[in-house]
Amino acid sequence: MDFTPAFVELIAQRRTDLRAELDAILPQACSIVLEIGSGHGHFLTRYAAEFPAKRCVGVDMRSERIARSLRKVAHGRLLNCHFVRAEALEFLYALPPAVKFEEIWVLFPDPWPKKRHHKNRLMQPDFLEALAARSLPEARLYFRTDFAPYFESVAAFLPSLMSWQLLPHAEWPLEHETVFQARADGYQSLVAVRTSHPAKPTGRVAPGLPPPISPTSSA
Ligand SMILES: C[S@@+](CC[C@H](N)C(=O)[O-])C[C@H]1O[C@@H](n2cnc3c(N)ncnc32)[C@H](O)[C@@H]1O
Repeated sequence: MDFTPAFVELIAQRRTDLRAELDAILPQACSIVLEIGSGHGHFLTRYAAEFPAKRCVGVDMRSERIARSLRKVAHGRLLNCHFVRAEALEFLYALPPAVKFEEIWVLFPDPWPKKRHHKNRLMQPDFLEALAARSLPEARLYFRTDFAPYFESVAAFLPSLMSWQLLPHAEWPLEHETVFQARADGYQSLVAVRTSHPAKPTGRVAPGLPPPISPTSSA
């Protein structure tokens, strides 16, 4: 894919800003509870209130949802809860290397039902490898969706990954209805645990964006 110089520059600036934002809110080395696609922040703000000793970070691409989430943070005076506007893979690349995940939550991600759009789904093998690379041993991954074919595809490929293992009877540390959960007729959930197997390196980059490190970009 060809990118115009102006677009590459814009993305490089966005990456620089994202790194600065993360440096400002997180110590260089720490563990975090990460929610990807945090939407309006219902789940993570409740989680942060219930578990004040845990450092929570929500990531979403949509600025108005981040703004709503931040209002909940301010309202609840949640010093342990942060929300960052970013694409999930861009966030992973920008995160300081010694920041690790102790829990990862992916609740009602966009289902991308059409086959030709499946490549846009968050929950794919290479994305889970990228998450594994940043996760602590025994980290937990919590996934929930109301779109049965999406659930089935994740449940089908996950056992083939060495870096994650399904935990069929694991409990959820917190149940709190999200906006999309409230709209759903039903849903399915799974939990996986990070194994001791090294994560497979992945070359995936955020859809539609230039690679984070390229000869033409300093980001
Ligand atoms: C269907 S909504 C679910 C929101 C929330 N988890 C809930 O259950 O109410 C999916 C959210 O994921 C965000 N999102 C989708 N793809 C993303 C990506 N690649 N990186 C970050 N956020 C993403 C969207 O902006 C949207 O807010």
